[in-house]
Amino acid sequence: MTTTHNFEGRVFVVTGSARGLGYAMAKRLVASNARVVLTDIDEAAVENAAAELGEAAQPRVSNVEDTAALPKLVEDIERQIGPIFGLVNNAGIFNKKAGWEISDEEWETILRINLSGSMAMTRECLRYMRPRKEGAIVMISSLAGLAGLPTSIGYVTTKTAVIGMARSLATDLGPDNIRCNAICPGVIDTEMTRKVFHGDPGRLAKLQSRISLPRLAQPEEIASMVAFLCSDDAAYVTGQAIAVDGGFAAGL
Ligand SMILES: NC(=O)c1ccc[n+]([C@@H]2O[C@H](COP(=O)([O-])OP(=O)(O)OC[C@H]3O[C@@H](n4cnc5c(N)ncnc54)[C@H](O)[C@@H]3O)[C@@H](O)[C@H]2O)c1
Repeated sequence: MTTTHNFEGRVFVVTGSARGLGYAMAKRLVASNARVVLTDIDEAAVENAAAELGEAAQPRVSNVEDTAALPKLVEDIERQIGPIFGLVNNAGIFNKKAGWEISDEEWETILRINLSGSMAMTRECLRYMRPRKEGAIVMISSLAGLAGLPTSIGYVTTKTAVIGMARSLATDLGPDNIRCNAICPGVIDTEMTRKVFHGDPGRLAKLQSRISLPRLAQPEEIASMVAFLCSDDAAYVTGQAIAVDGGFAAGL
């Protein structure tokens, strides 16, 4: 792993980081000398994940849907771990339904996790971050939030909305020296993707052949963009939606 940033003395929170992209982000930040709080709904997995990363990583069981519990979570992190410098709103779910078939419950669930959870975590962290006048927030959107995706109305809607959230926050938080950007990953080799293509390797191969770099991304390739956006190298980058998609959209 190439580690070019130094986050010594900085605390990060990465939601949904027991596995997949979130875990890779936490690992990358720890490798760059940060202290990282991994939050996830999966208690056993988040504890194992943090243990694998060593002392600089701390697990917290948290469901981003349970917004009433987030003030206490953030307060405890500030008190027990240290002042939060960076927040990565990564926790998210996928729902493969079109606009004529999604139920109220499915719609509300994906909105609560992918959208309201990110807003509530951001608001709670900002209570502490704003007075300190420094920090970085990253929203994990998707290429689906930039370009769309068939039969995925809940996913496309929420991933588009978090780009708007990043732009709005960037505008409001500039005077506080807090930057906010969105990353739009293409297709990444994680459990979420494996579930979507389960039992249909032909469809996955066809998809890969349409990507300019004809392969899936590894989670580490998204994690390195998180590290860059949270670093001083990105000091003048805010309000952006950055695709990390192997040139997929460029070839559409
Ligand atoms: N995998 C991809 O190809 C891809 C592409 C673009 C964007 N993304 C986005 O990246 C993010 C991570 O995706 P992934 O592929 O690593 O997913 P994943 O399903 O492998 O991991 C998601 C993690 O989030 C946790 N989680 C789920 N619901 C939660 C909740 N309510 N509260 C807290 N934690 C919760 C899960 O337990 C899991 O550990 C998601 O926001 C996803 O939409 C993924």
